[in-house]
Amino acid sequence: MTSIDLKGIAQAYNSAASKVYKRIVVCAGTGCMANGALPVFNALKAAVEKAGMREFVELEFDVHDDRKVIQLTGSGCQGFCAQGPLVNILPEETMYVKVKPEDAERIINQTIVNNEVIEELLYKNPVTGERNRGQLDIPFYKLQNRLVLGECGHVDPEDIREYIAHGGYLAAQKAFTEMTDVEICDTIVVSGLRGRGGGGFPTGRKWHLTRVEQSEKKYVICNGDEGDPGAFMDRSLMEGNPHRVLEGMMIAARAIGADEGYVYVRLEYPLAVKRMRKAIEDALDAGVLGDNVFGSGHSMYIHIMEGAGAFVCGEETALMASIEGKRGMPMPKPPFPAQKGLFGKPTVINNVETLAAVPLIIRHGASWFNKYGTANSKGTKTFALTGHVANTGLIEVPFGTTLREIVYNIGGGVTDNEGHVTHEGFKAVQIGGPSGGCLTEDDLDLPLDYDNLTAIGAMVGSGGLVVMNKQSCMVQIARFFMNFTQNESCGKCVPCREGTKQMLALLDDIIEGRATEETFEVLEEVGKVVKLASLCGLGKTAPSPVLSTILKFKDEYLAHIRDKRCPTNNCKALRSISIDPEKCIGCTACARKCPVKAISGDKKQVHVIDPEVCTKCGVCFEVCKFDAVVGFN
Ligand SMILES: Cc1cc2nc3c(=O)[nH]c(=O)nc-3n(C[C@H](O)[C@H](O)[C@H](O)COP(=O)(O)O)c2cc1C
Ligand code: FES
Repeated sequence: MTSIDLKGIAQAYNSAASKVYKRIVVCAGTGCMANGALPVFNALKAAVEKAGMREFVELEFDVHDDRKVIQLTGSGCQGFCAQGPLVNILPEETMYVKVKPEDAERIINQTIVNNEVIEELLYKNPVTGERNRGQLDIPFYKLQNRLVLGECGHVDPEDIREYIAHGGYLAAQKAFTEMTDVEICDTIVVSGLRGRGGGGFPTGRKWHLTRVEQSEKKYVICNGDEGDPGAFMDRSLMEGNPHRVLEGMMIAARAIGADEGYVYVRLEYPLAVKRMRKAIEDALDAGVLGDNVFGSGHSMYIHIMEGAGAFVCGEETALMASIEGKRGMPMPKPPFPAQKGLFGKPTVINNVETLAAVPLIIRHGASWFNKYGTANSKGTKTFALTGHVANTGLIEVPFGTTLREIVYNIGGGVTDNEGHVTHEGFKAVQIGGPSGGCLTEDDLDLPLDYDNLTAIGAMVGSGGLVVMNKQSCMVQIARFFMNFTQNESCGKCVPCREGTKQMLALLDDIIEGRATEETFEVLEEVGKVVKLASLCGLGKTAPSPVLSTILKFKDEYLAHIRDKRCPTNNCKALRSISIDPEKCIGCTACARKCPVKAISGDKKQVHVIDPEVCTKCGVCFEVCKFDAVVGFN
């Protein structure tokens, strides 16, 4: 195979693109699609046609026609999911948010034809009420460093030429034709890149360990399992820029001497699966993948393996068992995958985000990368910012950014349960999903990096950041994650299988008012044992959300246990519901609606609730027009 002409492809693409005078990019990430991006796309297409303008969904390379054209295209997630569907108009970078199909004609007639900005479609800052025109001045974007996510939302993920026109595959070409395996590993070591899949192991060191193994056959695996509830960083990267992930895998393969790789993606990510598959096919067709890559004499093939969505299958040994066709259960380590991995061969397994950072490092250099971050945590980290925060979405910030900057500046502030920004509402942030821990007001100014988080009993994890307001019950939060890990425990080892079950039962005792101080002691004790004695990371980290909430919110636990009271009134069984005799006028609405007949009282007389019968369902609270039912809020 002759070497692919990356420059030629980029030139042809750029010359076709130069005829484009407006590029309309509709976000086609999962979030925007769920909010109706497709009808918006179709309406824009129809509006362009109606206006009698030429439009391309795909660039045409052979037109001998100098008329200027509009390019209408989809993109991967642009990160600002809560404001979707997003429509970004280039080159001006005008971003319209929450666009509806009926806005399409206005957008074409006013913005495309007359260059006018439609104010009410711009993002409105929830605190200042100010309108921001686009990514260059919306605080959510301005305060980020989108390196790994950089091209997500800009390139068409299904067009390899666009990726190449943005400098794509140049790093792989360099790695295959100009660098030795040692040089590649050294560059990654010097860059300071650490694994983004949770553990934070230095990537270059892992590659060196695999490189020195003597074996005819080696593998590279891209871990796109992403089982953490609330996390969608890896999915967005695979959907938004699949070629970058492939390029990272190719460089890893060249560094360790592998010629084959697997992308492990959960089948609940159908768009990611589709785009990764298309990227592989297009890379093979273009001659990027296959035999004799870039004329280097090395070959490289990549396959997709769809996982069935078990959290434990993200654990590397379980993941490899799953690819081998076995049940996805973890194995004790050592041996490590570097020595005995997939099909018993030396294997590098890296997270999607880790691999997506690699082409940037090879292209721009290790020192460019480690300009970002802190002493021991270099570069940037993507986070899925969710919960009680104004701007939920996908963000990327340098390590060392404080929680305060993320929550208040990028996130736009904490919201109440109705979604309004409140000033004193912050209670905590759950970081790192079911393996992570809780950060509180005391940690707001802590620079977030691997070491600082480990030091306070939390972890970066894969990047879930769930913001909680003062109305959130921390025991319930701990129970949510414990329920998740208990369900996801594969059952192979006793401490995890039985310990998580016991911890969940103890949390239920606390939430339902059956707990004593002994319950609390046993909960902590079992948590410590599960952490110490479990076989794999699932069990070892399962107690973290419980232990960290105990550490930070002991009083809240004790209120549930000693006073049988939930300070946030979220725990149904601990609610003390009654009817305020001062307010009750005896309208009988509550008694008539109560499904268990717990309310008695004559018409025009004060009513009472029988606590023995009441199930605390809240119907009386909802129907009372006189705010006479108390104890629900
Ligand atoms: C229960 C469990 C689930 C995991 N899930 C993932 C996952 O979804 N994605 C991921 O990259 N790593 C996951 N990991 C970590 C992997 O085992 C492995 O460390 C990682 O893929 C290595 O890549 P990195 O060095 O680039 O972080 C999980 C670990 C455990 C214990
Ligand atoms: S899906 Fe459109 S911004 Fe995330």
